Amino acid sequence: MPTIVGEHVVLRDVRREDAEDAATWPRFAEPELQWANVALRTPSERDAWFRHELSDTERVRLAVTTRDGELAGFLGLRDIDWRQRRATLGIRLSPLHVNQGLGTDAIRTLLRYAFETLDLARVDLDVAERNHRARRCYTKVGFSETSTHWGFDGQRYLDMSISRAAFHRHNGYAAEGTLPS
Ligand SMILES: CC(C)(COP(=O)(O)OP(=O)(O)OC[C@H]1O[C@@H](n2cnc3c(N)ncnc32)[C@H](O)[C@@H]1OP(=O)(O)O)[C@@H](O)C(=O)NCCC(=O)NCCS
Repeated sequence: MPTIVGEHVVLRDVRREDAEDAATWPRFAEPELQWANVALRTPSERDAWFRHELSDTERVRLAVTTRDGELAGFLGLRDIDWRQRRATLGIRLSPLHVNQGLGTDAIRTLLRYAFETLDLARVDLDVAERNHRARRCYTKVGFSETSTHWGFDGQRYLDMSISRAAFHRHNGYAAEGTLPS
């Protein structure tokens, strides 16, 4: 994967040493964010995590760093359907890096790559109804709610989606042409 430079973040390939960094992150306290806490306590857990990161060549997995190179989180696209040109977005930042605008910029940067380079037509995601920060972030980028469903964890989730045209409209680009770099 190429390294993709955003306004405040850089998206690059995941490295084995990222596991060492992620293992030092504090935990999220919120019940709805327990899934986002990384369990990388031992070297073998960290090796297994990295092997898993590399194992699925059908998805795009990237590390999010600050422009200074500090690891801030991970994001990616999964369930890529090349026929329908759709994929599902996922993101998880470190608790140390939330609420600083990095998530919004990382998602915008990934979407620009998804629509312009991968030529996807639509990107979907789901988000827990009570994850208000993530919902606000997705709305800022231009995702809109399409439906809701109940998760296996008993929580209500919103299904959200953004088309290439909506991304360009929402992010200030009048036409579907190539975005300025
Ligand atoms: C969700 C996530 C990617 C967002 O990235 P981020 O860098 O923290 O978000 P940003 O700083 O770009 O934007 C957050 C916005 O939410 C707002 N916000 C923060 N807490 C909020 C709350 N409790 N209720 C409503 N809005 C909230 C912020 O004010 C900001 O909006 P603004 O720019 O209009 O002021 C990141 O917080 C994260 O990884 N969280 C943990 C894992 C997670 O929830 N992943 C998503 C699962 S679907």
